Amino acid sequence: MGRPVQQAQDSNFLTVIDERTGEKFRIPIVDNAIDAGAFKKMKAKRAPGEREENETEGGLRVVDTGYSNTAVISSRITYIDGENGVLRYRGYPIEQLAAKSNFLETAYLLIYGDLPSKPQFALFENEVMHHTFVHNDLDKLVSAFRYDSHPMSILTSCFAALGSFAPEANPSLQGQTLYTNAAKGDKAALAAMDKQIYRLLGKSITLAAMAYRIRQGRHFNVPKPGLDYTETFLYLLDHLGEEEYKPNPVIAKALDVLFILHADHEMNCSAASVLQVGSSLVDPYSAVAAGCAALYGPLHGGANEAVIRMLLDIGSPENVPAYIEKVKTKEKVLSGFGHRIYRTSDPRSFIIRKTAEEVFAVTGRNPLLETALTLHDIALKDEYFVKRRLYPNVDFFSGLIYQSLGFPTDYYPVLFAVPRVVGWLAHWRQLMLNPKGVKIWRPRQLYVGEGVRDYVELEGRKEVDPTPANAPTEVPHLFSKRAFLAEYKAKRNEQKPSKL
Ligand code: CMC
Repeated sequence: MGRPVQQAQDSNFLTVIDERTGEKFRIPIVDNAIDAGAFKKMKAKRAPGEREENETEGGLRVVDTGYSNTAVISSRITYIDGENGVLRYRGYPIEQLAAKSNFLETAYLLIYGDLPSKPQFALFENEVMHHTFVHNDLDKLVSAFRYDSHPMSILTSCFAALGSFAPEANPSLQGQTLYTNAAKGDKAALAAMDKQIYRLLGKSITLAAMAYRIRQGRHFNVPKPGLDYTETFLYLLDHLGEEEYKPNPVIAKALDVLFILHADHEMNCSAASVLQVGSSLVDPYSAVAAGCAALYGPLHGGANEAVIRMLLDIGSPENVPAYIEKVKTKEKVLSGFGHRIYRTSDPRSFIIRKTAEEVFAVTGRNPLLETALTLHDIALKDEYFVKRRLYPNVDFFSGLIYQSLGFPTDYYPVLFAVPRVVGWLAHWRQLMLNPKGVKIWRPRQLYVGEGVRDYVELEGRKEVDPTPANAPTEVPHLFSKRAFLAEYKAKRNEQKPSKL
């Protein structure tokens, strides 16, 4: 089914008058959007005294720090209506997918655009599960990390390393049209693209489990036939040599639902990173590693962890009112509340809430739940939150589930990254299949720095401006007292440490 086409109407234009020149511009509005390139045609003479770096004669620039109102791509994958709390994958409401689908089927839907037939799903599942095995050398790579390495550091590195095991999948080695030829109907290019998708989906659970087990000094498990995707992940995480080990079905189902909810969220920071990096036509392993690095940040994939830390900090339900007061005076943040897009409850939060109850039925109630519920109920009635339209987001209850399932808090972003590989790959595939080809993403900047100036010889320079950030900072070095007291000849320009 094609996208509804917007009929051209006389009124579908934006008229702009450039008061510097008196020129009038009529910019077409398509899909309720205007092309930022249209502003480049609005050229004027540089005003007296105006900086040449403004490039006024080159046309008007558009500023949108943080991309808060700039669409960087046309997409058919995910739709969010933040005003009404709507989330749809390829048109299907998230509530229906969470209730009826499974993670791999949802992955198929996101990547290929429609729900699969039985044979299509069988092929896809078979390929993904076939690729859950990783090259033996990855054992060495993961084993080289320190015992206290953050699992997201390990996972990001592993995604990047995977590319080195697949030189045939690298456009830098095989030619830059390796994937983009798929847009012209080249079947080999399409197959090459899909093979990397199967590999990345399959291997992500294995690598995530390795990042978990290395920190416990446990051997790495090998996928066991007969288990589905989420069960395999749980098996890889937890199997310790028992015979006929099978993960608990309630836990496997809950994780599967959580994976569906986290599989995509349209043009978020990590998806945009995958596309930014992918637009250079680098291999998909490097692009996914970039997405994983973006997700690692506390403003993106780390909020579920922050909720647990906040609940532990509050301690018990009776301390909630005092915490709320601190939030109102901006001393604290209510983690798990608020969202850039949703101005009502995040639709995923209701599904997670239900899933949490199912999990607690087998694991026992999370002791932090009472505090969470008290916080939730007070915040929803409080004027401060109501006025700012701050409602629970996906992270408010997910951390409680992960904690009840016994995951360490720094592992929560991994449980977000694994399913999000699907969204990243769906966006990457869509980019490669663009019939107009792939244009490298090269944003603009407004240069507000120094104008042109002549090089000054060392002897003629004035003392540098002492304002912080205008010169390198002196940093302490970790030297033992023994090293500090030792005698040695300084190498090159290095100086002996002057302080401990
Ligand atoms: N607790 C207290 N006050 C808040 C919160 C919060 N969680 N979120 C926003 N506000 C206040 C903010 O201080 C501002 O107040 P004022 O008007 O007095 O200055 C007002 O609400 C508007 O907030 P904003 O900063 O303009 O909102 P934003 O859209 O830029 O930020 C957000 C969105 C998600 C970063 C923010 O709500 C937040 O920090 N929430 C807590 C962290 C969190 O739960 N993040 C997970 C997001 S969902 C996961 C995902 O999809 O990636």
